[in-house]
Amino acid sequence: MDFRLLPGGKLIGEVRVPGDKSISHRAIMLGALAEGVTRVRGLLEGEDVLATRAAFESMGVSFNSAAGELTIQGAGLHGLRKPAVPLDLGNSGTAMRLLAGLLAGQAFATQLSGDQSLRRRPMGRVITPLQAMGAKIESAAGGRPPLAISANRDLRGIHYPLPVASAQVKSCVLLAGLYAQGATSVVEPSPVRDHTERMLRGFGYALERDAEGVISLQGGGRLRACDIDVPADISSAAFFMAGASIAPGSDLLLTHVGINPTRAGVINILRAMGADITILKSREMGGEPVADIRVRYAGLHGIEIPPGQVPLAIDEFPALLVAAACAEGRTVLRGARELRVKESDRIAATAEGLAALNAPAQVLEDGIVIDGLGNEGRFDGGEINSHQDHRIAMAFSMAALRARDNIAIRDAEMVATSFPGFDTLAEGLGLRISSSS
Ligand code: S3P
Repeated sequence: MDFRLLPGGKLIGEVRVPGDKSISHRAIMLGALAEGVTRVRGLLEGEDVLATRAAFESMGVSFNSAAGELTIQGAGLHGLRKPAVPLDLGNSGTAMRLLAGLLAGQAFATQLSGDQSLRRRPMGRVITPLQAMGAKIESAAGGRPPLAISANRDLRGIHYPLPVASAQVKSCVLLAGLYAQGATSVVEPSPVRDHTERMLRGFGYALERDAEGVISLQGGGRLRACDIDVPADISSAAFFMAGASIAPGSDLLLTHVGINPTRAGVINILRAMGADITILKSREMGGEPVADIRVRYAGLHGIEIPPGQVPLAIDEFPALLVAAACAEGRTVLRGARELRVKESDRIAATAEGLAALNAPAQVLEDGIVIDGLGNEGRFDGGEINSHQDHRIAMAFSMAALRARDNIAIRDAEMVATSFPGFDTLAEGLGLRISSSS
């Protein structure tokens, strides 16, 4: 499926984008392992999250969705059953890395696999700490999926300073720690999303964070079912934040967006570039900060992206870099090597997309330098290879708002992993988008 975009337009209106992907995965996982019935409202029904749900269904957990609410009959930490087949986690790195942690301490063996993109992604980063905890895991060459995890009821807690700023690795180790003897602790090289810690506490599991930032828990506790309200995904809102910032005349209200400080880098970076963003009705729901976000067009200027903001905006760079290409002056992103091992190599895919639209960018080993077209500037029309990456497809859709000719986005079907209905919703706000197969 391709997206076809006509040039120009602006974004106007009010919208609630679908539920947060990270929180949705965790709600299913912890709900499945809790004692009692968990109810989840606002869940993202994207393919990645459905893969996580299907994995737990094949381990005997029952789910029911009705009237916009998912009900999970928790099996308890020791109530999962051996799945009859390998678990297919589709495109989802989060599902594979977090499940690897949860499954390392089960009384049965499992195999985890996924699509072509997932099978290229590095799993050594979770295999190493899990093996240090005593887990037995085999992978394909180079620590790539599929993973074969042996039965093991003897995990030991470890202290693990994370070598990469990764919430998936942090979460994997903490979730394995639920099944380990003694204490399991991690420390982050710089803050990354903390949804796992917040949600564990929400499920009544004691977890500490000391003055040095060491996060620790004791194995052998229990999770108690609870109700969860999933906020709208700031990573999905980010495409519209970038789009409204670059399209003159735009005025958009994004409602009920999760603005957890460990995810809010996109707001900080856009504001540093001169974006007009107002946070309204800040509130807390189910342990997560939520707000409405108003974004109006403003001429942007290039910046050096502060290194501390990089992990806080790690999924938003495709959108941010399209915006940077419309700004006055130079934007420099460094310290973002992780972008090379996402659903695609997002540094290469973004640079390639910008080149296709005749916008100058210079690739660095750990980032990119973009010389903006300026506030009067426009992209050429062209064809974008999405590299089957949902975020590349959605980010470059926004480029059409500032293009002089048509843009076609190839292989946009992966958008359904995180943002089902993106094209319809975007069209309703003013993006001139259609899809064709
Ligand atoms: C995620 C963590 C991030 C992010 C991914 C979702 C999560 O990955 O890129 O989309 O839900 O924990 P890393 O932790 O590998 O940086």
